[in-house]
Amino acid sequence: MFCKDIQSALLPILSHYDPDQVVWIVDEQVHSLSGDFQGCYGGVTGYETISEDDKSLQTVERIWDLLLEKGITRRGLLVAVGGGVLTDVAGFAAATYRRGIDWVAVPTTLLAMVDASTGGKTGINYKGMKNMIGAFYPPEETIIWSGWLETLPAKEMLSGFGEIVKMGLIEPSAVNHQPSDRLWEALMRYDLDTMPIEDLTPLIKACVEAKERIVAADPKEEGLRKVLNFGHTFGHALEQFSIINSQLSIIPHGHAVLYGMVAETYLSVVKLGCPKEVLQQLTQMVIHYYGKPECKCSDRGKLIELMKRDKKNEHAGEINCTLVRGIGEPVINQVITEAEAEEAWEYLFSL
Ligand SMILES: NC(=O)c1ccc[n+]([C@@H]2O[C@H](COP(=O)([O-])OP(=O)(O)OC[C@H]3O[C@@H](n4cnc5c(N)ncnc54)[C@H](O)[C@@H]3O)[C@@H](O)[C@H]2O)c1
Repeated sequence: MFCKDIQSALLPILSHYDPDQVVWIVDEQVHSLSGDFQGCYGGVTGYETISEDDKSLQTVERIWDLLLEKGITRRGLLVAVGGGVLTDVAGFAAATYRRGIDWVAVPTTLLAMVDASTGGKTGINYKGMKNMIGAFYPPEETIIWSGWLETLPAKEMLSGFGEIVKMGLIEPSAVNHQPSDRLWEALMRYDLDTMPIEDLTPLIKACVEAKERIVAADPKEEGLRKVLNFGHTFGHALEQFSIINSQLSIIPHGHAVLYGMVAETYLSVVKLGCPKEVLQQLTQMVIHYYGKPECKCSDRGKLIELMKRDKKNEHAGEINCTLVRGIGEPVINQVITEAEAEEAWEYLFSL
C-alpha cells in the first residue's frame, strides 16, 4: 500500500490488534532521524538494528526475547520499520515466533521499498552465507511512504535505484498504468541528481506492481521468478571479488548488480539479438551514476571461477544467467561459455 501519510495508513491496521500485543522493531538510524514518525508509536518499545552484521540468529533471538518479555501471543503484531536488513530479520522472527505471528513491513530505504518488502522472502545470514536461513512469510501489509527517502544517503539511493533499473529492463511495466509509458522510458527521463523524490513514486509503484505479478506467478522461485536474477551472475562475482581482494574497495551489492547488468546486456545483444541501443542507454546511465568498476581485465579469470561456484547454477561448473531479448523480454536459464563470459567482462572493463 502506498500512502501520503504513514500514521493514517497504519492506524486502521493497528485497530485490529490489542495495543499491548503490538511490538515495533525500528531501525536505529530511522529512529534518530524521523522525529515526526515517533508520534505514531509513542517512543520506541521495540528493537533497533543497523547493519548487515545484524542479520543474524543473535538478532532474531533478541527479537524473540522481546516478544516473549512483552507476552506477545499468536494474536500479536510485529511492525518492522527500516531497510531490507531490518525487514528481512524481523520478518523471519515473526515467521518463527509461536509458528508465526502477523507482521507489517514499513520499508524506509529505496531498496526495501522496491524489492525486499515485496515477495515474502525473510531470512538471515548464517556461517558467512547470505540469506542461508529463512522463510517465505509475507507481511499482512507493506506500507510505502516515499518521505523516508528524504534522509537516505546517496549511496543507499543508488543501491535501490539499481533494482528499479533492473525491473525496467526485465518487465514491460507501465508507469501510472499508461501502456505507452514503460518503466524503462520513464527511468531514462528521471534524473536522480536533480528531480524531486515525489517524481520517483510512480516508478517505485510500477516496480512493486511488477514484482508482485512475478511473485504471484512463481512464489517459490521455481521458474519465472528467476528473471529477478538478471545482473546477479556477473554482479555477485564482482561483489564477492571486491570483498576477498583487500586491494579493492568493497563494491556495494546494488552497484555490483548494475555492472552485472551491463555485462549481461552485452551478452543479450551478442546471443539473443537484444537491440544495441538498450546496451548503450544502460552503459551511459551506469557510468553517469556509478562510475567505472575498479577491477581490471586481468581479473576476469578469477571472476569466472567465482561465477562457476554461484549457487544459482543448476549444474556444478556451468555458468547460468538470465538475459533479455529486449526491454521487458527476459529469458531465464541461459548457459554461457567461459569465452562468452570473458568477452562480457572485457566489454565492462573497457568502459
Ligand atoms: N527479502 C528480499 O526479497 C530481499 C530483496 C533484496 C534485498 N534484500 C536484503 O536487503 C538487505 C539490504 O537492504 P537495504 O539496502 O535497505 O540496507 P539496510 O537495511 O542495511 O539499510 C541501509 C542503511 O540505511 C539506513 N537507513 C534505513 N532507512 C533510512 C532512512 N530513511 N534514512 C536514512 N538512513 C536510513 C540503515 O540504518 C542502514 O544503515 C540485504 O540484506 C539484502 O539481502 C532482501
